[in-house]
Amino acid sequence: MKRLLIATGGGDCPGLNAVIRAVVHRASQEKDWEVLGSIQAFNGILWEPTEVVMLDNEKVAGIHFQGGTIIETTNKGGPFAWPVKDKNGKWTSVDRSDEMIRKLQIMHVDAVINIGGDGSQRISEQLYRKGLNIIGVPKTIDNDLSSTDSTFGFQTAVEIATEAVDKLVTTAASHNRVFVMEVMGREAGWIAMNAAVAGGADVCLIPEMPYDIEVVKEALEKRFKRDRGFAVVVVAEGAHAKNSKMEVQENDEVGYANPKLGGIARRLIDQLKAAGFEHDMRETVLGHLQRGGVPIAYDRVLSAQFGVKAFEMALAGDFGKMVAYRHPEFVAVPLKDAIAKPNLVTPDNALVKTCKGLGISMGV
Ligand code: F6P
Repeated sequence: MKRLLIATGGGDCPGLNAVIRAVVHRASQEKDWEVLGSIQAFNGILWEPTEVVMLDNEKVAGIHFQGGTIIETTNKGGPFAWPVKDKNGKWTSVDRSDEMIRKLQIMHVDAVINIGGDGSQRISEQLYRKGLNIIGVPKTIDNDLSSTDSTFGFQTAVEIATEAVDKLVTTAASHNRVFVMEVMGREAGWIAMNAAVAGGADVCLIPEMPYDIEVVKEALEKRFKRDRGFAVVVVAEGAHAKNSKMEVQENDEVGYANPKLGGIARRLIDQLKAAGFEHDMRETVLGHLQRGGVPIAYDRVLSAQFGVKAFEMALAGDFGKMVAYRHPEFVAVPLKDAIAKPNLVTPDNALVKTCKGLGISMGV
């Protein structure tokens, strides 16, 4: 019997369960494979006692449209940075990767599928270099992985953000207000740009194009006064004005390594007021609503394709690689290439041109 272990790491994302189900269904067609799930990314292996669940067709029945992940996840710690308290009671971290690989050998795990974003795939790559038979599956609502055309969860997040713009338009129009809606995306402006285009926003601000507050103000004055008497701004959480940095919030959660972004909607309203913009303004922060709930059909299909391909890579012994969607194919790319650079918006991107063509100000 061969044993495959699945882990889901990083922030959750609609479509994780659909990937798990696809791996299990495909594996069940091979008579000599069984699938285990590690609880909370690799914590399930690192904990004493270990926490793993057997994943079979019965266990994954009907989960393809469930949000979240049935095997839980975490974006803190991990095998290379396991949080421990030192003798002074301060939190520090230790590398437990060798111990984890040994544990996996004792558990007779032949292959691992790690479903996660850039942070998780960095862990996959390090584990592969240490000899683990590992395969990555790209997951992130931010769509910031460069080696794949798309990551599952992204289109669902865009759908949710677009629906929110649609709703804000009606209340903005009724009250002659400006609404500033903050969306996720970390350093990437993909969710913001797609929601702005789909929802018909007036201004879209993204991290890759630091804005000039005077340009934003002028665009709003124009839309507000001369055109439609209200305006909607979509701002990515990582966006910032020229000569300033991203809004980062305090976070004292143990083992949390990423900057916790958020707060730019409020900051933008303050900047507009300081620049002399006088109309009523309200902020909406969409936050984790973009990550919860059911995946749209597109993401379910993408997840299923990633899951089947990932298992087939395990079957073929094609390790150290991540599944990538390169339309119309699903291919295996080396993990080191997959994490080499992020997928960020460039000024010459087709969608930037579309925004400009539609008259959406990008604040530059
Ligand atoms: O990377 C996905 C993401 O949702 C980002 O868009 C966001 O900045 C971050 O995760 C939020 O993470 P957390 O769940 O720790 O608040």
